[in-house]
Amino acid sequence: MQSTAILSALAQEQHGLIELLQRPSKVNRAGRDFWLGELHGQSVVLALSKIGKVAAATTATALIERFGVQRMVFTGVAGGLGVGVDVGDVVVGQSFVQHDLDASPLFPRYEVPLYGKTQFGSDTVLTQQLLEAARSTLKQRHVSQAYPAAKAHLGLIASGDRFVSGAMESNALRAALLAANHDVLAVEMEGAAVAQVCHDYGIPFAAVRTISDRADDTAHVDFPSFIDQVASQYARTIVKTFLKLL
Ligand code: ADE
Repeated sequence: MQSTAILSALAQEQHGLIELLQRPSKVNRAGRDFWLGELHGQSVVLALSKIGKVAAATTATALIERFGVQRMVFTGVAGGLGVGVDVGDVVVGQSFVQHDLDASPLFPRYEVPLYGKTQFGSDTVLTQQLLEAARSTLKQRHVSQAYPAAKAHLGLIASGDRFVSGAMESNALRAALLAANHDVLAVEMEGAAVAQVCHDYGIPFAAVRTISDRADDTAHVDFPSFIDQVASQYARTIVKTFLKLL
């Protein structure tokens, strides 16, 4: 059976998955715990990405090199940047850009040097399955009751090593990306790095992010309570529905 890596950004999101893991075993590698087992009939490896692009790239590489996973799915939270991307919505990544990558004037802003690319795409099939799982989760009122108007979006996610927590900063970030034709929906700190690692290894990748804040002046206040109360519940239901679609 193909093994699926499920990367979570935060321990709270991972707890619910570990509880459901059948025949669990834990392996420590590179200072990280990797949980192997079966979830909803699928062979899985659960891991915490840790926070930031480098940490997430290390976790992704270990999942591929040491645990031989054949596909990778990321669940986490993000700040909403796009118009109409509100707290409680879900964004499924179609492509990923590193908003803090700038090797200009040697390379165009946002381009990953020596790749000739500014964006890395997600796998089309996995992404459609994840989108379907996200839509179905939002329809389950016991999961999304706090956000009855929540929407699922598909599009561009920007990653960088910053927690964006200011209206001026998030507006400037969005405008700069838009000026380079990157119409971004959400900002987080890992997705583009994992997408690049999966691109390098030819591993299908998909990512889903629940919007925990609007990357504005209250982002740091909204974030912790949202993780505990909403994001972990969303992640568990989305992953369950997704694995059943595989
Ligand atoms: N993850 C969740 N919210 C975020 C934000 N505002 N900036 C970066 N990463 C985030």
